[in-house]
Amino acid sequence: MSATVIDGKKVSGEIRAEVANEVKELKKQGINPGLAVVIVGENSASQVYVRNKEKGCLEAGIKSIKYELPSETTEAELLALVEKLNNDPRANGILVQLPLPKQINEEKILLAIKPEKDVDCFHPFNVGRLMGGGAKLKPCTPSGIIELLKHYDVPLEGQNAVIIGRSNIVGKPVAMLLMQENATVEICHSRTRDLAEHIKRADIIIAAVGRPKFVTKDMVKPGAAVIDVGINRLETGLCGDVDFDEVKDVAGAITPVPGGVGPMTIAMLLRNTITAAKEQKKEA
Ligand code: GUN
Repeated sequence: MSATVIDGKKVSGEIRAEVANEVKELKKQGINPGLAVVIVGENSASQVYVRNKEKGCLEAGIKSIKYELPSETTEAELLALVEKLNNDPRANGILVQLPLPKQINEEKILLAIKPEKDVDCFHPFNVGRLMGGGAKLKPCTPSGIIELLKHYDVPLEGQNAVIIGRSNIVGKPVAMLLMQENATVEICHSRTRDLAEHIKRADIIIAAVGRPKFVTKDMVKPGAAVIDVGINRLETGLCGDVDFDEVKDVAGAITPVPGGVGPMTIAMLLRNTITAAKEQKKEA
């Protein structure tokens, strides 16, 4: 039997259409949501992500304010731009694309973004709120994963979710969100002993290790839901952290790469931007 292929492009299209409708309504109330996107340097993957974010804004009727800074930009210059955007009422959301060049301390930059404009949910204040369960802005890729699982009626309550990878962007925050859905969560990483044994017990596998085709058929319990967050660029093209061709024969549901989690990140970013715009209107 072959797994249900989870269509992130389709689900994200539905969310984007909802966001576009809501933007139309907000504009009638005089709210014009805007997102500032800052990219520093020439990282080609980042350039693709930023272009897609800009396109997503345009399609949803959200104003996109893009800043492309040279790779030699100093920390002080970037901090000054963040401060300017913190005070710019047109920018309801501020997104500084990571990674940043090595002369810039990422943590310092993320700390400088006003938490209410932090649509990535990277600021420690918002990360703290996420732990408490009261986050208004939720991290984009992790919340996109939850949306996908819910959309395909994958049961979460009481299920064993195994996350492979402990990054601040995916592994740790998706653990929080899955726990809030009453899943039993394990976070595995490069130092985990008997990793395959952990993965084999999972009803839900979240692969976010950054190693091409790392999750193979023998590691997957029949019927498990497999979410592949990996985007590995090989000479042969894009490839996830899961060996899709063989795992699809044993999984119950599986996300492809591309067309799985990736498109959801942008949809959730757009949703966060209008949430931020509405909240800022309330406080104005
Ligand atoms: N780099 C890789 N993923 C992301 C993301 O979701 N947000 C930002 N700002 N940078 C990233």
